[in-house]
Amino acid sequence: MEWLAIPEVMKEGLWFMSLTLKSGFSFDYDNLFGEGKVTEADLKEYEGALKEAHEAMKVMREKGFIKAHLSKDGEPEKVLFSQLPYVEEGHLNSPKSMAHLKELTDHVRNNVDAVVSLGIGGSYLGNKVLFDVYCGDFWNSMSDEERGGFPKIYFSGQNIDPRRTADLINCLKRSAGYVESHKKRKEKVLLLVISKSGGTLDTMSNFMVLYDALRNCGNIETEVVAVTDPNEEKPTLLKKLAMENGWPTYSVPDGVGGRFSIFCEVGLTLAACVGMDIQAFLDGAKDMDKACQNENLWENPAMLNAALKFVASKKYGRHIEVMMPYGDYLKSVSEWYIQLLAESLGKQVDRDGKEVLYGRTPLVAVGTTDMHSQTQQHQEGTLDKVVQFIKIGKWANDFTIPNVFPEAKKLADISGVKMGDALEVARQSNADALSSNHRFNACFTLPELTLYHLGELLYMLAMSVAYEGELANVDAFNQPGVEAYKRIMGPKLQALKAGK
Ligand code: PA5
Repeated sequence: MEWLAIPEVMKEGLWFMSLTLKSGFSFDYDNLFGEGKVTEADLKEYEGALKEAHEAMKVMREKGFIKAHLSKDGEPEKVLFSQLPYVEEGHLNSPKSMAHLKELTDHVRNNVDAVVSLGIGGSYLGNKVLFDVYCGDFWNSMSDEERGGFPKIYFSGQNIDPRRTADLINCLKRSAGYVESHKKRKEKVLLLVISKSGGTLDTMSNFMVLYDALRNCGNIETEVVAVTDPNEEKPTLLKKLAMENGWPTYSVPDGVGGRFSIFCEVGLTLAACVGMDIQAFLDGAKDMDKACQNENLWENPAMLNAALKFVASKKYGRHIEVMMPYGDYLKSVSEWYIQLLAESLGKQVDRDGKEVLYGRTPLVAVGTTDMHSQTQQHQEGTLDKVVQFIKIGKWANDFTIPNVFPEAKKLADISGVKMGDALEVARQSNADALSSNHRFNACFTLPELTLYHLGELLYMLAMSVAYEGELANVDAFNQPGVEAYKRIMGPKLQALKAGK
């Protein structure tokens, strides 16, 4: 690994430390690196470890091997998420699997009225990101034409909440009444049931409640598509049901953990149901993977991000990472990142069995909303955070704030300004204020909110936790901690059923 000069770039007449890719994606780390922050000398201490981490990533890409990684059954397991951006013959995403996804697109378009995506954790969070960024809040209230003939989308299974499940059933029944009276046919609802293990309580209980409620409605036609482990010899419960009932299936392949599954058919089936440009999303991830093959720390976004955050935590006690994108539809990116960081790095023991109690704690925030709630803590509270901003360089359909009340000076003063520019001034002011009080922060910039740049961002974050796992010597690909409550919950549910 070469240790080249730290690059500085000129922005708006000032020198900044920033890593900018050809695509325009950038990582501005000026407020995280330098005098009084993580220093070059700090990073140099880990020069050997970074080199080893980079070599480990090469091996992971080539062989799917990660030192000491075992599945939850204690078996050696490959780690294959880095293969997913490459749509190639013999790969997990292949021309054949893309054609299979296109079948789903063709099936739902102008045919299915509503899709309910059922899943939790890794089988939900990435799908919500794709939906929010591509469709936005008001997708379901658009007309069929405005949605391009694609169905309405609902989510379920991400909790075991009877109130919301009842509301969803009533909502589907109401729209079935409308379809019946206006279109003189039954409403078509597709239940997209996503569970790698095929038996997750949260997902499957909602599935059964919905399935039962809908099949008893005379004016609703229900179909099911299952997304689960494809193994037919040892089928998951969901796979078995799919085989018995003739439901179409898509795969959550071996070697792809829930938190990386947005790039496989978990995320891509939802993408197919709304007509997303899947290739653009995967291309962004692929180009980011190539950038992350750079052995120069200052040119490899995932390695640099991991190194700075790791040292900020280890040496400066910045154990909390506040993921704070500026923009409503990016809040689910923060929520997706919570799982990625928490499950990957929150580990009691390292790969040699030594107790380390490692893990930076992730926190969801969104700008500007949380500047009016959390920022007080970020600015003056415990000195234990890195605030990671995400900024959109240029917004599509921006508004210039009009001068509607010229007599009100305060309002007249903000007129003529674009909303997107006002949002960035707010973010920049927050960053400057934090920096002025020794609060570490950094910013990822997406030139525009496109699927390509979203693919770049999410893949970089996934690769970054893989690097940090190496630096901290913890298995970033297991989650033994989530088994603890499950061992307690199983017998409790049995006792509940038995009326004890
Ligand atoms: O990352 C994980 O493994 C978990 O969050 C799972 O995604 C979550 O528990 C859902 O599991 P499954 O897809 O098996 O239903």
